[in-house]
Amino acid sequence: MKRIPEPELMDTMEQAEAYDQADFSEPHGKRVELFAERYGHAVTGAVLDLGCGSGDILERFAKKFPKAHFVGVDGSEPMLELSRRRMQKAGLSSRMNFVRSFIPSPDIPKQDYSVIMSHSLLHHLHEPKVLWDTVKQVANENTFVFVADLRRPDSEKDVARIVDELSGDEPEVLKQDFYNSLCAAFTADEIRSQLKQAGLKLEVEEVGDIHILVYGAGK
Ligand SMILES: C[S@@+](CC[C@H](N)C(=O)[O-])C[C@H]1O[C@@H](n2cnc3c(N)ncnc32)[C@H](O)[C@@H]1O
Repeated sequence: MKRIPEPELMDTMEQAEAYDQADFSEPHGKRVELFAERYGHAVTGAVLDLGCGSGDILERFAKKFPKAHFVGVDGSEPMLELSRRRMQKAGLSSRMNFVRSFIPSPDIPKQDYSVIMSHSLLHHLHEPKVLWDTVKQVANENTFVFVADLRRPDSEKDVARIVDELSGDEPEVLKQDFYNSLCAAFTADEIRSQLKQAGLKLEVEEVGDIHILVYGAGK
């Protein structure tokens, strides 16, 4: 099926709260494990999260890696506000810095990042090149890149089946969101060609039925 893009930012409080309240504990908990297996050791130093949203994955990383500190970037102020509240509640604010920035942007804080990660941002981007260009702009020789997202099924019929099978009793707004996200996601071949154009030598790995991981050295 052809890709059907969706809006980039999730920038109303209603949309941000619906996303924040969804139960992502299974996929997001697994995400940290998938990262840890591929990174191979504990993270220390600075981690950049591009498109951090309301911070559920950031919180999980911060708990798993207590010696790391984090920069979360998102273009949506409601999402960042939810992230700030979450970190305050979890007692993690001192290791978090949130920056409102619409990628691509020259304002992404430059630091010696141990890890640049991004979860479920790629499928939102109308121009995926902006993510890979940002990675190239910010990474150095020691940076490990980890990008995780959905991958697009073969047909809209498959999309409908997957949403039906995996959404359980989630509210209709989230089911629609999931449907739109699967339609907007990239295939492994599309991502390989994006990386080739960007000159990035990263692994592309299909995981389970609907996810894809892109990882490796950022330089
Ligand atoms: C599906 S959410 C993922 C949030 C979080 N990473 C997670 O996995 O739970 C995608 C996020 O990317 C943000 N976003 C989309 N396009 C963006 C852009 N061009 N620049 C900055 N943030 C963007 C949206 O506002 C939203 O918060």
